[in-house]
Amino acid sequence: MTKRRLLTGLQPSGPLHIGNYFGALKPFLSMYEEYESMLMVADYHALTTQKNPEELRRNTLDIVKDYLAIGIDPKKAVIFRQSDVPEHMELAWIFQCLVTVPFLERAHAYKDKVAKGLEANAGLFAYPMLMAADILLYDTDIVPVGEDQRQHIEYAREAAVKFNNAYGDTFKEPREKILRGVATIPGVDGKKMSKSYGNTIPLFGSKEEIRRTVMSIVTDSKGESPEIVYAIHSSLKGREELSELYKTNRGNYKALKEALFADIEREVAPMREKRASIGDEDVKGVLAEGSKSARKLAQMKMKFVREKIGIAL
Ligand code: TYM
Repeated sequence: MTKRRLLTGLQPSGPLHIGNYFGALKPFLSMYEEYESMLMVADYHALTTQKNPEELRRNTLDIVKDYLAIGIDPKKAVIFRQSDVPEHMELAWIFQCLVTVPFLERAHAYKDKVAKGLEANAGLFAYPMLMAADILLYDTDIVPVGEDQRQHIEYAREAAVKFNNAYGDTFKEPREKILRGVATIPGVDGKKMSKSYGNTIPLFGSKEEIRRTVMSIVTDSKGESPEIVYAIHSSLKGREELSELYKTNRGNYKALKEALFADIEREVAPMREKRASIGDEDVKGVLAEGSKSARKLAQMKMKFVREKIGIAL
C-alpha cells in the first residue's frame, strides 16, 4: 500500500520563532516518517512581503538550516523550494481562473490588511490559490499547520472541489492537522506570536536573546499565575508537570519565567549546536535533490491537469 502524503511549508520571511516550531515544525517532525513527506520553503509566498533580494536569499538558506537542525532527515522527506517547481505557479493560475473575486475577498489575511486601511498587493489577494496549488499538486492528505492556516486549507479543499466539479475527479481533498495546545502560541505580549507583531521568541536566537525575550513576557501584576508564561510553557510540558511547578512558585513570576527559559533552552540547545555545523553548500545540495524529486511529481500531475483542461493538444 502506498503511504499517504504529508506536506507543509513555511515562508522564509525572517528568523523562525517558537510559534512556528511548536505549531507546525514539531508536529511535522513527530509524524513525517509515517508518510511520504514534503517540507517546502514557500519563497514565492514570502515575496508578498519581502522586497529585499539579499534578505530573501539569506532567509531561504537559513530556513533550510532550521529544517535540518530540528532533525528532519532529507533522505526521509523531500525538502524543496517552491520557486524551483514552476508548476506551482501554473496550477495557481488555473485555480484563480476557477474562483471568484468575492470568494478570495473572504480570506483573513487580505481582509485584515484592507480593514487596516492598507492596500494589498495582488499577490496577497491570490495567495490562497498558490497555497492550494502547493498542497493539491502532490495529492496531499495531511497538512500540519498552526490555527492561523486553517482557512487556507479550507480554500485548498474548495479549490479541489471546484476543479473536480468542472473537469472531473482530479484532486484529493486535503485535511489540516492542527494540534490542540499548540494551535496558537502567544507572543510575549499575549497576542498570537508573529513576526509582524514583533512579539516573537526566536527559535534559534542565542541563549541570551531567548532569555531576554522570555523575561520580557508581559505579566499581569494582579494574578497569581502569569497567564502568557503558562500558555507558552504548556507547549513544552504537560498540565500535570506544570501544575506542580506553578503551585510551588505561585506569585513568583521571575522563577516561573526562569523555568520556562530553562525548558526552552533544553529543547533548543542541541538543535542550535547542530545548526552551527550546517553550511550553505549543504543546504544547496539538499535543495537541489529535493527540488528534483518534487518537480518530477509536479510534472506528472500537471500533465494530467493540462489534459483535463484542454491545454494539452
Ligand atoms: P507561516 O510562514 O506564516 O508560518 C509557518 C507555520 O507556523 C505556524 N505558526 C504558528 N503556529 C502556532 N502559533 C503561532 N503563533 C504560529 N505562528 C505561525 C503557521 O500556522 C504555519 O503552519 N501560508 C503559510 C505557508 C505555506 C504553506 C503552504 C503551509 C505556503 N504554502 C502549503 C502549508 C502548506 C504561512 O504563511 O505560514
